[in-house]
Amino acid sequence: MIKTEKFVLILSIIVMVIFLFAIIFASKGLNIEVPECLPPQEPFKQGKVEKLDKHTYQAFFVARMWRFDPSTIEIPVGSEVDLFLTSRDVVHGFHIMEKDVNLMAVYGSVNYTTVTFDKPGVYNIVCHEYCGAGHENMRGKIIVKK
Ligand code: CUA
Repeated sequence: MIKTEKFVLILSIIVMVIFLFAIIFASKGLNIEVPECLPPQEPFKQGKVEKLDKHTYQAFFVARMWRFDPSTIEIPVGSEVDLFLTSRDVVHGFHIMEKDVNLMAVYGSVNYTTVTFDKPGVYNIVCHEYCGAGHENMRGKIIVKK
């Protein structure tokens, strides 16, 4: 290896290390995070479930890197659920594997569907839109009790 190659190699490594520390410093030291774009309605601040009557519920899901808020909800069998969905950061997917529910969670907007859960059991929610390093672990559950 000639002297110039060695110099360029060392210089490249130093620049990469400075770049890496700059990213870590921006993230931890300056507290810079991915910008949020939540709809202004109160239920989307954290995500929640509201009971309207014995068999009617409203579920407000907020998708974020890399989980759903709430991650698990429990409802009685026979419930009809108005399901509202948004994203805090990037585009996520929302697929209830045991049902024909396939929505996109898009920042700044709300997606909606109504689902009736007429059989007891665990209904698994997965994110089916690639959203980053934790995508494959982004899951949720709807537990339907007898
Ligand atoms: Cu969220 Cu993939």
